Amino acid sequence: MAPLQEGQYMIQTSSQSSARLNLQHYWVTESLGYLLHPSIPVAPDAKIADIATGTGAWPVSYSLHAAVPSSVQIDGFDVTDDMFPPADWLPSNVSLRTLDVLKPIPAELKGVYDVVCIRYFGVQVRNNDPSGVLANLVEMLKPGGYIQWVESDIYSQRVVKPTSCTLPESTALERHLAVWRRYLDASGLRYDWLAALPTHCIRHGMSEAHIYTPPSTPALRFTLTTAVLGAWEELSYNLDKDKEPDEFLGSGRELREKIGAFWREVEAGAALEQRFFVTVARK
Ligand SMILES: C[S@@+](CC[C@H](N)C(=O)[O-])C[C@H]1O[C@@H](n2cnc3c(N)ncnc32)[C@H](O)[C@@H]1O
Repeated sequence: MAPLQEGQYMIQTSSQSSARLNLQHYWVTESLGYLLHPSIPVAPDAKIADIATGTGAWPVSYSLHAAVPSSVQIDGFDVTDDMFPPADWLPSNVSLRTLDVLKPIPAELKGVYDVVCIRYFGVQVRNNDPSGVLANLVEMLKPGGYIQWVESDIYSQRVVKPTSCTLPESTALERHLAVWRRYLDASGLRYDWLAALPTHCIRHGMSEAHIYTPPSTPALRFTLTTAVLGAWEELSYNLDKDKEPDEFLGSGRELREKIGAFWREVEAGAALEQRFFVTVARK
């Protein structure tokens, strides 16, 4: 049996997940230098959707941006409202609601949006095939509308160390990444589809598609590493619910013990690095 079943979410939607996602939002926004790629035009009456919005960090940040008029409507959607702020605390042009983007899109959301954004949904894309979710995103767009898909490749993440680091050649983090890849393989979680996303977009009827691979920002490596270790800790609590230890990651307790060792290596200078992909496509 695969460690993760089709559609099963690998991590959690707890208050700890909210904190991690908000940290990740800081990391990705600072790393990219934009929330919306500069090639995407936004009219004063634009309607924008953010799919799998999590804490709603993207819609809230975008609405607070000085260059974005309050006439731009931003709707965030997620399969759960666990991490949404209270509705009456949201900016007036932001709404958040539940939507399972792996199921058929309700008629009232079809052809409505000028821009549809999605960020960090890769853990729900199985067997290198984003077709199901992509078809739904395209359906939500008006003709001529844009998709922005931001994703990191968590399969090929690697350990980096500063020149001053005295850690040995092979760290516990590096050994874990080898096991991690076997866990992802067994769960159908390869990230080869990311580089091919523009081709998938064209196949789904988009008229143009471009991919950008921004460089990582070394000063933000510890921020990213903190977010990744947090995600692994959430995964460890999911493993606690299984009767048997996972074939690759062991029990939840064993994974948390390993994470303790990773933290000591991080304190000694080790950090994680991930490749970014930003795909922009026009319907
Ligand atoms: C890694 S988080 C990313 C959150 C947000 N996009 C961000 O970048 O801060 C993935 C999100 O996908 C949501 N999710 C998982 N399965 C989903 C589905 N079938 N439909 C909609 N959202 C889903 C989770 O609840 C979670 O909030």
